[in-house]
Amino acid sequence: MEPEPQIQAFESRYGRPPQAGARAPGRVNLIGEHTDYNEGRVLPCAIDRETLVLAAAREDGRVRLVSREEGEGRAFSGDALARRGDWTDYVQAVFFALAEAGHRVGGADLCVASDVPTGSGLSSSAALGVGVATALDALFGLGLQPIDWARAAHRGESAFVGVGCGIMDQWASALGRPGAALRIDCRTGEASEVPIGGDLALLVAHSGVRRELAKGGYGDRREECFAAFRAAREAGVAGPEARALRDLGEADLPALERALPDVLFRRARHVIRDDARVDRMADALRAGALAAAGALLLEGQASLRDDFEVSTPELDLLCEVADGLPGVYGSRLTGAGFGGCTLHLVAPEAAADVAVAIADGFERVFERRPAMLETPPSAGASRLWEPKGN
Ligand code: GLA
Repeated sequence: MEPEPQIQAFESRYGRPPQAGARAPGRVNLIGEHTDYNEGRVLPCAIDRETLVLAAAREDGRVRLVSREEGEGRAFSGDALARRGDWTDYVQAVFFALAEAGHRVGGADLCVASDVPTGSGLSSSAALGVGVATALDALFGLGLQPIDWARAAHRGESAFVGVGCGIMDQWASALGRPGAALRIDCRTGEASEVPIGGDLALLVAHSGVRRELAKGGYGDRREECFAAFRAAREAGVAGPEARALRDLGEADLPALERALPDVLFRRARHVIRDDARVDRMADALRAGALAAAGALLLEGQASLRDDFEVSTPELDLLCEVADGLPGVYGSRLTGAGFGGCTLHLVAPEAAADVAVAIADGFERVFERRPAMLETPPSAGASRLWEPKGN
C-alpha cells in the first residue's frame, strides 16, 4: 500500500509527521488447517494485501489511535490496558505482550490503514497485530527480529484479546517470503521455504460470510481436539510421551475409531491427515507435481467439510464450481472456516477466466458476486522507516 496518503492523514490528525512506519500482510494457508494448535505443521504464505501502521512517540504514556477503516479509536494508557471488545483490543494486546516480554514501550500516536478484508479468514487481525509490533519496534528501537513481532502479536491475541489461536497467522504475516509458502512446524518452530513457481496462480474467493458471525465455533473445535487427545491417551492409543494430536498418525486411526466417540474421532482424523498433507503438499510443489498438489486440496476440503465440519454451503459451492473448470488444479476453504475464503490453485493463463466463472457460478445460487483476488506469495512484515538513531 502506498504510504503517502496515510502520511498525510497522520499529519492532519495529529499535526505532525509520523516518526516510524511499518507494514504487515494477511495470509492464505495452502494446507494444514486447525493443525497449529495441535502442535502440527502448516503451509501458509503471505498475500499482497497488508496493513500499514504509522507512529510517533508521545511523552505522556498515552496511546491515541485512528484507523482508516474503523475510524477513531478510544485512547488508552500503556499502564492501564483494558479490553473493550473492539479493534483497539488488538493494538492494546501488542502493548501488553511487549511489556510482558520486558520491552520499554512508551506512548504513541498511531494511524492504521488496511486493505486486508476483515472477517475474511485472511488474517486481518494478525496483520494488525504484527504491523503494530513492527511499528513499535521501529519507533522505540527495540531491536526485535521478525519472529519476535509474530510472537508479540500472537501472545497478545491469545493472552489479552482471549482468542485461543495458533501461531500460523502471525508467523506468516511476519516471515512470509515472496514466491514461497512457509512450511512451519508449530511444535519445534522450524520453518522452511517451499517455492511456488510461475506455473501456479493463487486465486482467493471471498464467500461474503463474515467469520465473526460464528466466533464460538473455533474455540469449540479447539476443545474437541484437546478432548480427543485426552481420550486417546486414556485409552492408551497415545503413549505417555505424546503431547498432542500431532503425535498420532494414520496407523493409529483404527484404534482411535474404537476408542473415541464419533465426533471426536472425526475431529482427530482431520487433524492427523491434514498434518500429513502438509509434507505431501510441500513434496508435490517442490517436484512441480501440480495435479497432485491440487488433489491434496480436494482431500483437505472433504476433510474440513465432513470430518471437521467447518465448511459452509457458500464455501462448498465455491469449491465445487471451481473444481469443474479447466485450469483449476484444486480448491479448498482456507483459514478457520465457518465463512471467509476459499483458495484455488490455478494455471496462471486460466486465472482471469476462472475468477469470472467462479463468481458467475456462485451468483447463480446465492444471487451476489463473491470478491475474487489473485495474489502472489508475498513478503512478510517490514519496517518502512524509523527515527534516526534506532
Ligand atoms: C485461524 C487461527 C489459526 C489457525 C487457523 C486454522 O486462522 O488464527 O491459528 O488455527 O484458524 O488453521
